[in-house]
Amino acid sequence: MHKLILAAAVSAVLVAPGTAMAQSPIVIKFSHVVAEDTPKGKGALKFKELAEKYTNGKVKVEIYPNSSLYKDKEEIEALQLGSVQMLAPSTAKFAPLGVKEFEALDLPWLFKDEDTYAKAMKGPIGKWLFQKLEAKGITGLAYWDNGFHMASANRPLLTPADFQGLKVRISGSKIADRYFRDIGAIPQIMAFSEVYQALQTGVVDGCENTPSNYLTQKFYEVQKDITVSYHAHLQYAVIVNSKFWSGLPPDIRAQLEKAMNDATDYTNSIAVKENEDALAEIKKSGKTTLHYLTDDQRKAWQTAMRPTYAWAKGRVGQEVLDLIAKELDIKMN
Ligand code: LMR
Repeated sequence: MHKLILAAAVSAVLVAPGTAMAQSPIVIKFSHVVAEDTPKGKGALKFKELAEKYTNGKVKVEIYPNSSLYKDKEEIEALQLGSVQMLAPSTAKFAPLGVKEFEALDLPWLFKDEDTYAKAMKGPIGKWLFQKLEAKGITGLAYWDNGFHMASANRPLLTPADFQGLKVRISGSKIADRYFRDIGAIPQIMAFSEVYQALQTGVVDGCENTPSNYLTQKFYEVQKDITVSYHAHLQYAVIVNSKFWSGLPPDIRAQLEKAMNDATDYTNSIAVKENEDALAEIKKSGKTTLHYLTDDQRKAWQTAMRPTYAWAKGRVGQEVLDLIAKELDIKMN
């Protein structure tokens, strides 16, 4: 039996070494946790389309959406082990990698609007953060936008008092853990794929997320009240296994970089509209009530969450805070 297999392998190599190579494309497994009908889901599909086109089929991209291959924490381990080649996790999920500095981006009301966010991530911060990944065997390729978080529960969340004792699901960032504690809630880290059921069964009372995620995961069906607070930003880092990436033939890597740049422009150009549309659809469903904060209510949230800024230094370090403060021309505490 063994001899037969060996003979077959040897003859395949002898008969057509070049052809055998050319016929088997390089496969990139791209795993993510959200639905395809979201900014990240669409970005991944766009990357697949362009990568396969620009490399003339020499690269095949297999996309595994909706945690169908791995859940949050497992996918990061899988990337390091080389079981998948590409991911786009929220930057709130990088602490298990030992790179806590990304969590600085989760500070509440850090970016005053989408333009400020987009400009900041094109500056030195984005590159500085990516350099932190290299020591972990991971290469950062791009940042993808998914807008601002809302907060929800089965009661209106309008003042800090409304958060008292509320069990809130968070995705991983200790900065989010802190600002929810500051405002009186009890945060709990949980994989994205488990949130709907946890909300439905009351394992947690509430959560935060962007409109596109509320819509596609149906969170709005199990949360009676959603506050369109936009209190923190959600962004993704598209990352690859460095060994895989640097081992690619240079011409293929260049084509993939172009595909990634174009897919990034596309994703970042649709993120705002996708979330606006999702919010409109949630509203139309009539299954939940949307709340908007008055200026005074927003100020009360901001004041309650402000201690997170001073606390952040011990978590993410002064260097990243200084970089962000300089870029945004703001004071950190
Ligand atoms: C979450 O876990 O809430 C998000 O990071 C999911 C995502 O990737 O948008």
